[in-house]
Amino acid sequence: MDFGGTGQGGESNILSSTYKKYWQIGFKTRLYDGLSPEAYLESLRRVADLLRLTEGERVLDAGCGSGLLLPLLTDRLARGGQYLGMDTLPAGHAALKARANRMDLNRSVSGVQADLSKPLPLRDASVSCVAAHFSVYTLPEENDRKHAFQEFERVLKPGGLLVTANPTLSYDAQQIIRASLESLKNKKRSWWMKKFLVYPLTLHLGLKHIEKQLKSGYWHGYQPEELRDAVAQAGFAIEHTETVYGGSGFLVVGRKR
Ligand SMILES: C[S@@+](CC[C@H](N)C(=O)[O-])C[C@H]1O[C@@H](n2cnc3c(N)ncnc32)[C@H](O)[C@@H]1O
Repeated sequence: MDFGGTGQGGESNILSSTYKKYWQIGFKTRLYDGLSPEAYLESLRRVADLLRLTEGERVLDAGCGSGLLLPLLTDRLARGGQYLGMDTLPAGHAALKARANRMDLNRSVSGVQADLSKPLPLRDASVSCVAAHFSVYTLPEENDRKHAFQEFERVLKPGGLLVTANPTLSYDAQQIIRASLESLKNKKRSWWMKKFLVYPLTLHLGLKHIEKQLKSGYWHGYQPEELRDAVAQAGFAIEHTETVYGGSGFLVVGRKR
């Protein structure tokens, strides 16, 4: 397992110190994992299903956070696939590394600390798939979000897939909780625990805060067609789109031509 430090020669300053702290605390304490609502995990499962990673191929998880996507790819990694986690925050890498250790996936997992708004420290056409789950929307500048999609196109092999999901403009924290509870309705014990113990914290420590940043415009909520166009403008052929995250997220699959 190689966690090769910063790939761009220095720590990124693009995230404000408040957000660095917000995610760092979440990743270090594992609150981020524990409080993620079911609808978010479902959206991650859709990304994993759509990636179509096959034997020996390398997937880039761009803005990987604590590596929540990793457990969903184990079968494919066991058949020789490689997972590269990229994030600007060291706490995300520490969490990813610990997860890979727990799962005994050290040989299939590596990490690079890099900023998605800068040239990515990867060669052209060097990965088979890119997953960007709820990461690009946190780049405050439109040009940086465009740049990130262009860089994903550059590092993908011809025919490679980008699967990205981001919040919609109509992001609704309460609706995400309702959708999550609906998904858990056949798991009685989990339902009660999540409804009364976990999701009140999810709502007030996480989702409401994100909703506020999206409404203020600091983070970017996408119109569905806007996300599809952004991926197409970066040079991808659009293969699939769908609504995820209880209606608060939109997912786009693009294929490099
Ligand atoms: C909402 S979390 C999503 C993490 C993960 N993809 C998931 O679905 O659990 C957003 C992630 O994007 C990362 N991020 C934000 N801005 C970034 C940037 N400029 N470069 C690289 N990563 C960034 C954050 O550090 C954080 O880990």
